[in-house]
Amino acid sequence: MTHDTDSPPGARPRVLVARAIFPEIIETLRKHFEVEDNQADEAWSREELLARLKGKQGAFTTGGERIDAEVLAACPQLRICANMAVGYNNFDIQAMTAAGVLATNTPDVLTETTADFGFALLMATARRLTESEHFLRAGRWGKWSYDMFAGQDVHGSTLGILGMGRIGQGIARRGAHGFGMKVIYHNRSRLSPELEAECKASYVSKDELLRRADHLVLVLPYSPQSHHAIGAAEIALMKPTATLVNIARGGIVDDAALAQALREKRIFAAGLDVFEGEPRVHPGLLDLPNVVLSPHIASATVPTRLAMARLAADNLVAFLVRGEPLTPINPQVLARA
Ligand code: DGY
Repeated sequence: MTHDTDSPPGARPRVLVARAIFPEIIETLRKHFEVEDNQADEAWSREELLARLKGKQGAFTTGGERIDAEVLAACPQLRICANMAVGYNNFDIQAMTAAGVLATNTPDVLTETTADFGFALLMATARRLTESEHFLRAGRWGKWSYDMFAGQDVHGSTLGILGMGRIGQGIARRGAHGFGMKVIYHNRSRLSPELEAECKASYVSKDELLRRADHLVLVLPYSPQSHHAIGAAEIALMKPTATLVNIARGGIVDDAALAQALREKRIFAAGLDVFEGEPRVHPGLLDLPNVVLSPHIASATVPTRLAMARLAADNLVAFLVRGEPLTPINPQVLARA
């Protein structure tokens, strides 16, 4: 598809940055583009986002901005949307590819940071860390008792991983090498024997994963196929002593079913960084002691968020200036450009 342009020949491309980001990233972008930013971090309605995107060749998005056929039809000048996230379920890739709009994401730079957080959430969940901290802060710690906040062991237990991409592999390495855990995983495709050996991980069916895991970590991408991959039926297969950690995407877990299972103590506990319909959180989760909740921060360290922002900005520059994006999701667009 050829793209409309109402810019005079030689004019600098126009780019919209949809959310507040590091000021130095805005500065970098301004060296190459006419930039409209949102450093006030105003909550733009969809209509406002659409109006601001009109006439822009590039968009810097952060995962919350839905780019679909409606947006693409309204913004024929748009050539690239660079997501500052590895996940891209806010993009309708099929519609973007059909419209000749390139999509990019930020893989690799967040892998280890996100795996660290997955492990932190696993530990906090198994060892009842936030629940016990709330108890202490509330002044309720009067005496020692043998079963006070007794949790589940992490070392030597069985770690189950659903979704064995780069982040899943990072969690497997931490579990196997750092904590002597037996690692089992399920994924759309099996890892190579070399990678399995490196992660000390064995491939099992999804049912076996659910039945055997002492700690189950979800790291699979969201898609219509993975919607409610963990619901009441899957939770019913898990051990009553098991924990469930979701650092993948909201919607992969049926949060209502999980809240009910946690209330009825059908599994031991859960650690959740992502939620269906976030930033709203299912009210049934909020008053439960056996769930650790965090506001989608698995990749949130200063160096990693900066690296993600840089990579998204570099994708805009590399594509709009040189025609060579760094981490394209739909590279077939390039062949047609
Ligand atoms: C990702 O990179 O997909 C994270 O969820 C965004 O914070």
